[in-house]
Amino acid sequence: IMKDTDYRPNLHFTPEKNWMNDPNGMFYLNGVYHLFYQHYPEGNTWGPMHWGHATSKDMIAWNYESIALYPDEKGYIFSGNSVVDKNNTSGFGDGTETPIVALFTYHDPKGEKDGRDDYQTQGLAYSLDKGKTWTKYKNNPVIKNPGIKDFRDPNIIWNEAHKQWVLVLATYEKTMFFTSKNLIDWNHVSDFGEGIGAHGGVWECPDFIKMKVAGTDDEKWVLIQSLNPGAYNGGSGTQYFVGDFDGVKFTPEPYVNSLGEKHDFWIDFGKDNYAGVTWHNAPNGRTLFIGWMSNWEYANVVPTETWRSTSTIARELKLKKLDGKYRIFSSPVKELQNYIEKSISKEAIEVSNSEVILTKNEISLSKTEVSFEIPTLKNNDYKFLLTNAIGDSLTFGYDHSQKQFYIDRSKSGRVNFNEQFAEKTSIAPRISNEEKLKVTLLLDKTSIELFFDDGASVMTEIFFPKNPFQEFKALSNQSFYINNLNARELKL
Ligand code: FRU
Repeated sequence: IMKDTDYRPNLHFTPEKNWMNDPNGMFYLNGVYHLFYQHYPEGNTWGPMHWGHATSKDMIAWNYESIALYPDEKGYIFSGNSVVDKNNTSGFGDGTETPIVALFTYHDPKGEKDGRDDYQTQGLAYSLDKGKTWTKYKNNPVIKNPGIKDFRDPNIIWNEAHKQWVLVLATYEKTMFFTSKNLIDWNHVSDFGEGIGAHGGVWECPDFIKMKVAGTDDEKWVLIQSLNPGAYNGGSGTQYFVGDFDGVKFTPEPYVNSLGEKHDFWIDFGKDNYAGVTWHNAPNGRTLFIGWMSNWEYANVVPTETWRSTSTIARELKLKKLDGKYRIFSSPVKELQNYIEKSISKEAIEVSNSEVILTKNEISLSKTEVSFEIPTLKNNDYKFLLTNAIGDSLTFGYDHSQKQFYIDRSKSGRVNFNEQFAEKTSIAPRISNEEKLKVTLLLDKTSIELFFDDGASVMTEIFFPKNPFQEFKALSNQSFYINNLNARELKL
């Protein structure tokens, strides 16, 4: 029977021990990707937050580094981000080293306990040794609280057109925009979001980025905005809004203004991709993203003990215009392909009732990326299952009559640790209109990441089988073909 250490993933980042939530402070410099994360090093549930630290050459294989930021008398170190201050606009540089400047939220637990509403402020820290050690700024906080309870998770970008830094901050039902010339003195210049998009809970962890529109010379500004609770399938999730920015105000595309609670602009429709943001200073203009692979509904009680929570696989995001609307497409970063240890291909598998597509004797089902195509969609339902001999199964598929993808983890093993974990089948709309359905799935011991239609609709979910899955099967009551199946086992 699997538990704890058996569940530690093959391909995904986890803290070495104890608790992790959001990714923080991600930047790239001199061939190294830095990942910081919300971390409680003393316990396996959420507690006084630190920034843990890890580094990687490719966003796939990670090295643990020492804790970057510890809580202090001003509070816990909540989420935030960091930038590479190449021109030393902050003045923290010493003439040789490029300063890395992090903005994070100070959460003062005492202020919270005393019933105040100004207990979240924004602090600054900088590093002069490429992120290894950090000095907190002597005059913190750099952004004081104006009396708003949820006032957190700063994220900064350099705005070349206006020669300024832009900071986005999540403040309950809206995103506040601030600008600065030096990363220290910030002016509140505009707000976005009241009455737009989903508001079933609190907005958290924004990210404001500029992206090229694929196949054109156009560029658009994208606001990535996490929300908890109130996501597409309940609990935590990440929506996005596309528009323009004039140095002061974010103006969304006209269609964005009419998005209500049940819109379909989500980075990921599955239950387990939250608080994700992008790497700063990423090479070659790539937009590189990583999320926390859990959900606040049950993050504290998932059945692992010595460590708790996993990151998603790092993903590259692309922006494409489809039917007059801008859509984010995601796929696992191409660096993952450097780890292929073994691969098998199958042609034209006919599924007439129940067909075994892959077995664990052919290829591992817990460190493998599988891709295949269904050439023409004519059936109503295309169902896929991961199963084992003791009856655990994870089901996913595509309901063509509803144009909906789904994941059902109700029989996937351990599910009773929380009521919401498996109570409903998760669904995702099909965004693409292609005749052909392309599917890529990344399997690890406790997670599935499904990229449909080249990543137009994505679903990420975790599961805890009692034994490892042994077979990957397809089911149908009308026959269909699976073409170009390729399974790539990865070694890390
Ligand atoms: C999101 C979040 C952030 C906050 C952090 C605290 O998951 O709630 O808003 O900064 O986690 O750990």
